[in-house]
Amino acid sequence: MSTSGHLKMKKIPVKPFWWDRGLFIIDQTELPEKEIVLKLDKVKKVYEAIKNLKIRGAPLIGCIAAYGVVVSFIENENLPFCKLKDKIKKDIEKLKSSRPTAYNLFYALRRMEKIIDNFGISKKKLKQNLLKEAEKIYKEDLIACYKIGEYGEKIIKDGMGILTHCNAGGLATSGFGTALAPIYVAKQKCKKIHVYVDETRPVLQGARLTCWELEKNRIPYTLICDNMAGYLMSKKEIDIVIVGADRIAKNGDTANKIGTYSLAVLANYHKIPFYIAAPISTFDFNIEDGSKIPIEERDENEVKKINGKYISPENADVFNPAFDVTPNYLITGFITEKGIIKPEEIEKLKNMGG
Ligand code: MRU
Repeated sequence: MSTSGHLKMKKIPVKPFWWDRGLFIIDQTELPEKEIVLKLDKVKKVYEAIKNLKIRGAPLIGCIAAYGVVVSFIENENLPFCKLKDKIKKDIEKLKSSRPTAYNLFYALRRMEKIIDNFGISKKKLKQNLLKEAEKIYKEDLIACYKIGEYGEKIIKDGMGILTHCNAGGLATSGFGTALAPIYVAKQKCKKIHVYVDETRPVLQGARLTCWELEKNRIPYTLICDNMAGYLMSKKEIDIVIVGADRIAKNGDTANKIGTYSLAVLANYHKIPFYIAAPISTFDFNIEDGSKIPIEERDENEVKKINGKYISPENADVFNPAFDVTPNYLITGFITEKGIIKPEEIEKLKNMGG
């Protein structure tokens, strides 16, 4: 996979996957301890990798699902042509059911479906066009995230303390990240910054993944437990909060990793700017507000166990929503590849993406 001229000179902070006549990923459930590469050569493996968080983060889920459709083609190549198309479409439905909240998954798979319907005139053409579209989705994400970094860097002032939640970095996208992209660009411009990383219970994407990639890129950071953010804000250590998004409704209500809403309330109380960084592929223009965003609920053992060991009574009753919704009025702005916009300006972005 080669990147566009625009990006050739930029060092990509992290490479969470690649295509080399097959789909390869870094298994994020093993980080930071081990960097294990997995080959996803069956749609079942792609589905499980997404569902079990081996790869995660809305834009990356979209990219992997798109290549997952190419995997489906290769896996079923020997079927007669029309049966092959039906099978790929079935696999697309399966992939759509892997995670309900991340809008990029549906965005990418809809684009792949269009290729089957409109540009699949022969087996050879279908394969070529599916691969071309998956590559396009990947490159568009790469460029969008870099632009998010360029726009977002402008609101990061020298000496700022920046709080982020979960992992909205290179590991959650095609390589630059969304919330972390402005931080990477600020570093390139030699701004002195310090990142506070919420550990992000229950799956610890902050502690395991954000710290891992900040360390790799030599960005100064401090890891905190989720319940420490308010104290730090009261001590004036946090100047700005930047997080990612899984799905943004038409009115700006935003679903992101569980705990984001609490941070937005805290930021509002302490009068700290609260930004969402996301590409247009995360905006769902079909839903009016956040009440329509499906919120994934995950296995109770994610809450009851740490490293396979119970931290609660085995029978404890558990509630484990993976995301919450931050209402638009708590959001200072959206850092997108088209610039920084207010919740009320979202409509302008429609038809500007991909
Ligand atoms: O459950 P995850 O790890 O997939 O959740 C990820 C997040 O909530 C991210 O903040 C979001 O997907 C944006 S990633 C650029």
